[in-house]
Amino acid sequence: MSSASSTPPTPPRLQVPENTPAEEATLQDALAPGARPIRSFVLRQGRLSAAQARALEEQRNFVIDYGSTLLDPAKTFRRQAPLVVEIGFGMGHATADIAEALPDHDFIGVEVHTPGVGSLLKMLGARSIQNIRVIQHDAVEVLRDMIADESLAGVHIFFPDPWPKKRHHKRRLIQPGFVASLVRKLKPGGYIHCATDWQEYAAHMLHVLQNEPALKNTASGYAPRPAYRTESNFERRGLRLGHGVWDLVFRRQYYKTTGSTC
Ligand SMILES: C[S@@+](CC[C@H](N)C(=O)[O-])C[C@H]1O[C@@H](n2cnc3c(N)ncnc32)[C@H](O)[C@@H]1O
Repeated sequence: MSSASSTPPTPPRLQVPENTPAEEATLQDALAPGARPIRSFVLRQGRLSAAQARALEEQRNFVIDYGSTLLDPAKTFRRQAPLVVEIGFGMGHATADIAEALPDHDFIGVEVHTPGVGSLLKMLGARSIQNIRVIQHDAVEVLRDMIADESLAGVHIFFPDPWPKKRHHKRRLIQPGFVASLVRKLKPGGYIHCATDWQEYAAHMLHVLQNEPALKNTASGYAPRPAYRTESNFERRGLRLGHGVWDLVFRRQYYKTTGSTC
């Protein structure tokens, strides 16, 4: 039997910072004012190229600072158009391609990684893309604080970090609480489009999305890749190596998330 005075075991080495006990809650607790959230990302120092650094300076007009007031998309984009939020755009290649392919839509890309933000801003300048704005901040808080309920035509979440270790699953973006909060931001008929190359996360996403009562799957199971989502280099490489890619596209049904019909 162990005694209270025995030496505590050496804690295991962790690859990401462990949460403090105060953080031991689910990701949707980020939606509670004042709560210290579990983050779905770890900020790493990435190499910022000179061109990305220049774009961060020169393309400031495409950047919206994070704040606690709701965005007015009509004012931001100077028009009325369906609005799509992309969470975690990485280097932004898909974001730029999609915005070019869908010029009658407006896009807000949210990413925390500075080189990624620089990379997308560089493309916006080089390709004269006008229908994207970028917010560098935790998307969970951006959605909570800056996006009005029932304002979005869609949400894109492409290849979110899979957090494969069980003890890190709480860091995954796709969780029931966060999905419920996304649904509140969708207009009736709006969609959530997720893609992943991690099979077990794909199955988890399918389970979570299928169990959100306000959402309806557009396919029976996984969806064919919609034409607007062009293959990324990362994805092409994965496919060459025989990895799979799973798309999921769910729509908010035409009734209120509270259950009352509208
Ligand atoms: C695996 S990468 C995928 C990037 C990109 N979507 C792609 O398909 O190449 C996931 C990205 O999500 C970003 N991310 C994760 N959680 C985020 C959050 N809560 N808010 C904003 N960005 C986030 C990370 O910084 C990272 O760049």
